[in-house]
Amino acid sequence: MNRALRFALLLVIGLAGLTYGASRWVQGETRTWFEKDLNLRAQLALAGARFELASSWRTAPDRLDDVLVSLAQDERIMGAAACSPEGKLLARSAEFPRAVSGTDVVLRIEREGADPRFGHWTRTELLPGGEVHLAALPLADADGPLGYLLLAQDLSFVARREDQARIFLAVAFGVLALLASLMTLFLSRMSWRHWSEELRRILRGGHERKEFQPILSDVRELVDRLMEQEGRSWTPERLRETLRQRLSGERILVLANREPYVHQRDAAGRLQVMHPASGLVTALEPVLRACSGTWIAHGSGSADRETADRKGRLRVPPRPDGAPARPGEPGTYVLRRVWLEPAMEHGYYYGFANEGLWPLCHIAHTRPIFRSDDWRQYRAANERFVRAVLDEADADDPIVLVQDYHFALAPALIRRALPKATVIVFWHIPWPNAELFGICPYRNEILEGLLGASILGFHTQFHCNNFLDAVDRFLEARIDRERSAVVHRGRATLVQPYPISIEWPMDRLAGVPSAADSLRSVQEEHGIAPGVQLGIGVDRLDYTKGIEERLLAVERLFERHPRFLGRFTFVQLAAPSRTEIERYRDLNTQVETLVRRIDARFAMAGWHPLVLRLAHHEPPEVFRHLRAADLCYVSSLHDGMNLVAKEFVAARDDERGVLILSQFTGAARELTEALVVNPYNLDEAADALAAALDMPAEEQAARMGSMRSYLAEFNVYRWAGRMLIDASRLRRKERLFENFSDPEAAVVGVP
Ligand code: F6P
Repeated sequence: MNRALRFALLLVIGLAGLTYGASRWVQGETRTWFEKDLNLRAQLALAGARFELASSWRTAPDRLDDVLVSLAQDERIMGAAACSPEGKLLARSAEFPRAVSGTDVVLRIEREGADPRFGHWTRTELLPGGEVHLAALPLADADGPLGYLLLAQDLSFVARREDQARIFLAVAFGVLALLASLMTLFLSRMSWRHWSEELRRILRGGHERKEFQPILSDVRELVDRLMEQEGRSWTPERLRETLRQRLSGERILVLANREPYVHQRDAAGRLQVMHPASGLVTALEPVLRACSGTWIAHGSGSADRETADRKGRLRVPPRPDGAPARPGEPGTYVLRRVWLEPAMEHGYYYGFANEGLWPLCHIAHTRPIFRSDDWRQYRAANERFVRAVLDEADADDPIVLVQDYHFALAPALIRRALPKATVIVFWHIPWPNAELFGICPYRNEILEGLLGASILGFHTQFHCNNFLDAVDRFLEARIDRERSAVVHRGRATLVQPYPISIEWPMDRLAGVPSAADSLRSVQEEHGIAPGVQLGIGVDRLDYTKGIEERLLAVERLFERHPRFLGRFTFVQLAAPSRTEIERYRDLNTQVETLVRRIDARFAMAGWHPLVLRLAHHEPPEVFRHLRAADLCYVSSLHDGMNLVAKEFVAARDDERGVLILSQFTGAARELTEALVVNPYNLDEAADALAAALDMPAEEQAARMGSMRSYLAEFNVYRWAGRMLIDASRLRRKERLFENFSDPEAAVVGVP
């Protein structure tokens, strides 16, 4: 039955019930009212005829008939009679009902008594001609009681009136109900349309009504939690929606030293676009493509200036010929390049960031170097980048995502210039324990700089705790460990773990050959014979990556499991990095020497144990290798996350391949189905390599499948989404408490 019919049926049933109930009530009321009226009439009739009745009652009974007849002249009085106190009928008018006996009436008066409301006996009788109202009014003179005047009044008109009233009521209710239903339908349609328009507008993220804002935020939080519970995945669309709904669609500004696209001219003068080997870029690029906004970075390419405008701006991703994307093209955003003179780049990037903070934060046994000149350049560079941020901000409360250890001072600088800005800092590398951190001569400035942020994110809770300990030890600040927040100089900073991830599904895999084709091409490229199992390592050439330990583990594999000689080759792709720093140049030499030594020891005709490619590899080449490999060994000695591990999993849609993962990476906390090893323990690592090479296909698929479903859910959109959601809650609370003196209040309950 359709909805309209059901509505009509309900209407009819409701209407019938209502009419019945109403007519019963009206009937009762009108009857009482008519009876009262008849009794009143009876009393009036008696009062008018009392004298004549009394005088003729005892002395002239023949006149009594006339008096009764004249009484019956009243149109309502049907007939009148007179009876003695015992009920003997003395006289009656012609129409007085014969069925009524005086004795009977007197008996009933004695039994029932008079009606106290009227002072006389009264009753309604159903006689053959219809309903009759009977009233017996007592009459007396000075000598005592004379008897009763009996008046019979026609009640049939009451029944007629009742019938008319019932019909009138039914019609009136019918019309009313119809009008009410039409009105209700009309209003509900109107208000539904209004509501749905309002809802659509809200969902579209339009300007929200002020009075709805607190409720909306709560509803959204609830929706987010439900979506999380329901397992609704994070996608670029959902991230975009989150930004639009929670932060009114504000553009995000990203401040990160490394730019996602580097323009260079090759030896032949051709323009080339290079995608740097950087976990940070891998993670943030898809977020920017999803949300749009501006990425502010160091313009480090030889052709960067010529491909940007006067302000250093261009729209990316660039077109295949290297030219900027067109404005408004979906999936594009603005890259704002900041230019640094060589001295500044040297002091800020190579010096303080990579010879000071980098080794300070990683436990990789390279001593940090802190030069006051580098520090000066670091400060100056932070100021310069912040000026670009302020230049790009189109409101006084922008959302700025500050990335990594290159910009420890930027949050406080942004906060000073734009007190209402929401500054989210993500520290991509580990944070050392307080004792270690304490060796930095500029530790207080760094901590204070970072505390300009609204939210400070690390990959793990452990790194958050280390940061809180450092604040506790070196600054005058209040630490709320329960909420993981710091209140310093009247401002609160939330310190939370947000493990970073990769895009999922991965756009960059489009165009990468299948596993079988990838294997064929990799074998061809490196002269590896078919049937030889393949291991892969992909890194920037950095001493934190444990590349030497990895190569030594391969050597140990051949020592402990010689059956793999001639049957397994490990390919290491290493992108030269920070080559202005001596330690990195040394590492380059050490790795090459090591590979030569191991190769010399085990190589056979047509087979090499190791292949080293010291060069930058573009993403398609990297993924082709990851797809071809039987195993991938990620052996970092200390790493915040290590996204290569996640990229290997993403590349393996064939659910083959084994991941061997250092226990000192952030990824090891999430990808627990990997073979987790201590990279310093060469025997353990060698045995893990052997176990991986022997692992049956079903076990590989089970482990890989499980890691893939984890990453499908915990992707980079979730990482960014969670930070933006926390930032929006914080922003809302800050707005709420803006006029109050307690800055800590804003942190309460977040997240
Ligand atoms: O791990 C820290 C980090 O900034 C990463 O985010 C990135 O992968 C790497 O260093 C890149 O270093 P650089 O920008 O110095 O080449």
